[in-house]
Amino acid sequence: MYFDDVKSRRSVRTFDGLGITDKLLDDLKAYAATIENPYGIPVTFDFLDAKENELSSPVLKGEELYVTAKVKKVENADVAYGYSFESLLMHAVNKGLGTVWIGGTMPRDKFEKACGLKEDEIMPCVSPIGFAAEKIGVKEVLMRKGVKADSRYDFTELFFKNDFNTPLTENEASEMGIYSALEAVRLAPSAVNKQPWRVVVKDNAVHFYEKKDRGYDNGTYDLQKVDLGIAINHFDFESRDNGKTLTFKISDPNIVLPGDNYEYIASYEF
Ligand SMILES: Cc1cc2nc3c(=O)[nH]c(=O)nc-3n(C[C@H](O)[C@H](O)[C@H](O)COP(=O)(O)O)c2cc1C
Repeated sequence: MYFDDVKSRRSVRTFDGLGITDKLLDDLKAYAATIENPYGIPVTFDFLDAKENELSSPVLKGEELYVTAKVKKVENADVAYGYSFESLLMHAVNKGLGTVWIGGTMPRDKFEKACGLKEDEIMPCVSPIGFAAEKIGVKEVLMRKGVKADSRYDFTELFFKNDFNTPLTENEASEMGIYSALEAVRLAPSAVNKQPWRVVVKDNAVHFYEKKDRGYDNGTYDLQKVDLGIAINHFDFESRDNGKTLTFKISDPNIVLPGDNYEYIASYEF
């Protein structure tokens, strides 16, 4: 079940150093070629041998393979990017593989060169792919503590009903048939575990908002919009797993925002 993968997933930064089989690599490549997102913006993947390309990250150990993802610099590229890349990473998780979104802690120039990034493209993130080491490294333990990686906001702090003043309870979400889809959003990974996604449910639609923190938008792309793409992906995949078909819409319902740092992103009708 998709929901089981969402619950068991955690970022992996310490790998067994053995790499993956050609069969698994072929499976990942084949899946990557089928990935789409609701924005219809193509995201392309490159699988790069770490040693051959001299790629590494200061927060990782034992990784043999990286995947990079590129997208053209167009409107909503960052949200579409988060959606598509998360499809690939959750597919890898389903195969028992470890992954971690890396948007900051890497020698960016080297990765951009290795994947042949063009002038009109961006490559906000990369991920190692491999099997987790049996024992998690000391550095990784400290890193998880630093960002409180095992904690998440409560359901009622993230999800609302009709307006931003009325929290949506887990019971109400269950009655609407969207509890596990929202829980899949709540448990999603995000940059520095900031969990910038907020959702307002109104008239059989869920509206996704970004609650922005300072320092994530570099003018070309916003890492927290990548987070929103991940959240939208989790909502979509868990709903589909429950047999629901959603309609994706970008149509601002003009709900009063709690602050200037909130931005409407997209909606799903269910
Ligand atoms: C867009 C994005 C960028 C991230 N960048 C980094 C990074 O540069 N380095 C890192 O160690 N972790 C990075 N992470 C991983 C988060 O720190 C991690 O997902 C979060 O702490 C929650 O932990 P969990 O994934 O184990 O649930 C990133 C995650 C996302 C979604």
